[in-house]
Amino acid sequence: MNVLHFSAECYPIAKVGGLADVVGSLPKYQNKLGTKSSVIMPFYDNDFARENSFESIFESSTKLGSTSIDFKILSLKNNTLGFDIFFVDIPELLFKDYVYSFDDTDRFLAFQIAALDWVIQFESKPSIIHCHDHHTGLVPFMMYYSHNYKVLQNVPTILTIHNAQYQGWFSHDKLGFIPEFDMKHVGLLDWDTSVNSLAAAIKCVWRVTTVSPSYMEELKRNANGLESLLSHESAKCSGILNGIDSDVWNPEVDDYLIKKFSQKTIVSGRKANKKWLCDHFGLNINKPLFAFIGRLVGEKGADLFPEIFDISLQKNDISILLLGSGHDDIEHGLESLKSKHEGNYNAYIGYDEKLSHIIYAGADFLLMPSRVEPCGLNQMYALKYGTIPIVNNIGGLKDTVVDVSEKGFGFVHQEASVEQVCHAIERATSFYQNQSEFKKIRTLIMQIDHSWGASAQAYIDLYNTLN
Ligand code: ADP
Ligand code: GLC
Repeated sequence: MNVLHFSAECYPIAKVGGLADVVGSLPKYQNKLGTKSSVIMPFYDNDFARENSFESIFESSTKLGSTSIDFKILSLKNNTLGFDIFFVDIPELLFKDYVYSFDDTDRFLAFQIAALDWVIQFESKPSIIHCHDHHTGLVPFMMYYSHNYKVLQNVPTILTIHNAQYQGWFSHDKLGFIPEFDMKHVGLLDWDTSVNSLAAAIKCVWRVTTVSPSYMEELKRNANGLESLLSHESAKCSGILNGIDSDVWNPEVDDYLIKKFSQKTIVSGRKANKKWLCDHFGLNINKPLFAFIGRLVGEKGADLFPEIFDISLQKNDISILLLGSGHDDIEHGLESLKSKHEGNYNAYIGYDEKLSHIIYAGADFLLMPSRVEPCGLNQMYALKYGTIPIVNNIGGLKDTVVDVSEKGFGFVHQEASVEQVCHAIERATSFYQNQSEFKKIRTLIMQIDHSWGASAQAYIDLYNTLN
């Protein structure tokens, strides 16, 4: 079975968040189960492009409205990723030092069109086209209704929704960018008053998956305007929990760590990583260390942090460390707390892959007060590294974390509010005082299996129902 994944991100090539981690690992694990899965993505101007060699395997030109665009399809030379990867190279639109920006409509439309122009000339067509998020959401519509792509009409399509908050809206002025189709089908592209790429995908695709079962249910009640559409299409929708790449996220082999460790060496291993963090950020190693890693946006509950941290640091003898970037006002609020709580709090505002691994390995607790969390990978990484998660009871967090009061291994609060998160931090702080119980739980959580095996197979089972 030949599966072609369409995505804007893929680790280690270009990563903004968890979408990259999933698209950079799911195909590898699918291949281990016997499929031939590959990825097509835009060619960005980043370290990966500079540090690797590529070969042009197809060259053509296409149209974005009345503008002619020359493009190449590149393949990666000396590929060790575990799956084939192809890139759409359109220098003037895609070769940028960012993944997302203000001009996403034109960029991702051009990406989808060029990729399909390439696919239609394959001698043997893919068995499945698997689209990820709204950036690739017009592919199912174009495959079915654009005259150019009619040869792909019978190829089954899957959409995985990693995040329904973002939907790829654009105005009808740009309808002409979509390769010619019969205007009687235009309603399939619309939602409310604009073209909506995610809605179009949900309507046209053969099957929809979300990245956790609970998120699928939540979307029927809260999907940033698409609730009724998802309820209407629920017969073709299902939730498949993400897995984690145990070649990358495994403290026994993780080269980013100050010291690698297993369940047997957890005490010394975690201590060395915590010591490095505390030395580096001016914190006290003897206090329980609470951490956050992620995008500083409302979805993650990050706007609550300045108040949560201020209250919690006054009430409890703890340390807090944050790694993230996002909204200016949140960043500013987090920076300005530094002087007040020097020695107990620090924040690195920015993106740092290595530091994130050391935090998973050295912090005692990981905070995730998300308001929306389709799956969440951070809590699964934390578990694998023996860091106890403190999460809001939603989406993938609900599906992966059980409270200690219910014979579980984490702290679950029922709302993303200052009060509830502060209360959860207090509970965790007193839990930390019982060091034998604390150490028992953190060794136990390292054994929870969130590797891709079962979920990669669940996708293959879904593909099989369509072929
Ligand atoms: P989302 O995709 O919504 O941001 P996920 O939990 O699925 O959330 O995945 C986030 C991924 O991005 C994880 O791999 C996390 O470690 C990483 N990440 C987020 N922010 C940062 C940062 N500032 N520095 C390093 N890694 C980060
Ligand atoms: C999205 C979601 C996150 C999920 C990730 C990977 O970015 O916000 O919850 O883990 O995609 O599927």
